[in-house]
Amino acid sequence: MKTRSILALALLLPGMAWSAASNWPMEPMKPDLKNVPSLQNGFRLYVNYCLGCHSLQFQRYERTADDLQIPHDLALENLVFTGQAIGDLMETAMDPQLAKDWFGAPPPDLTMVTRVRGPEWVYNYLKTFYLDETRPLGVNNKVFENVGMPHALIDLQGIQRSGCIQVPKIAANRGEMRDPLEPGRPITEEKCDQLVLEEGTGLYTAEEYDQAVYDISNFLHYVGDPSRLERHRIGGYVLLFLLILWVFTWLLGREYNKAVR
Ligand code: HEC
Repeated sequence: MKTRSILALALLLPGMAWSAASNWPMEPMKPDLKNVPSLQNGFRLYVNYCLGCHSLQFQRYERTADDLQIPHDLALENLVFTGQAIGDLMETAMDPQLAKDWFGAPPPDLTMVTRVRGPEWVYNYLKTFYLDETRPLGVNNKVFENVGMPHALIDLQGIQRSGCIQVPKIAANRGEMRDPLEPGRPITEEKCDQLVLEEGTGLYTAEEYDQAVYDISNFLHYVGDPSRLERHRIGGYVLLFLLILWVFTWLLGREYNKAVR
């Protein structure tokens, strides 16, 4: 019994370590491998904004292009910037030692990141960079405190700050509270540790940015297990096969039963 509870505790520990890292309320994100345009866009954004620092060293361009239904010539022309061949692994041109000197930590390979952290974590991570002059790179992150990565997508998202905002006060079970003296005027309260986007400072609107970040996380979810797509498809055929087999087995069983009687 004792060993069992120790084992259970040991299994729980890694999860506790991650959740202890940040108490930021995570926005849900559900990956969708059937959404090919999203995966294609994630691939495009990844090679443009991330591959300069983060390799995907277990993933080949060719396989990615095939899985995401992108013709090889198009992929070579628009998605391979490192002068590599289509059959090559998606490596970065950055020298890991130099990178370590620049950022303090070398940018890790991201092939497995969604299997370790989960796609939802990556999605929230990419959404929660904010300006912080006390940090060497001028930015900090809500789900990865004191991160050593610059905000790679700041051009798209724009400038985000962390601070206090006024939000409508919510009464228990009665919705937003209104001012009794000035009908219609909501009563507000101050909420701190919130992210505020300076509108118009990024190329994308907030919705477009959310979609872009969703697509990158979705793409990294695919990269974490590229055969998942195929497995789901094959799984369907296997079930169909079993169903047909079951019909014949049942018919055969009925014949046997007749003979026995
Ligand atoms: C200029 C180089 C650079 C670029 C560009 C960059 N990163 Fe990073 N990234 C880093 C560094 C350095 C770290 C390590 C930070 C640390 O450990 O403090 C990191 C860490 C991460 C992590 C956390 C990994 C982990 O499990 O600890 C994720 C996820 C990530 N980057 C995703 C991205 C994505 C997605 C993009 C493209 C939108 C991107 N990065 C662009 C340098 C970069």
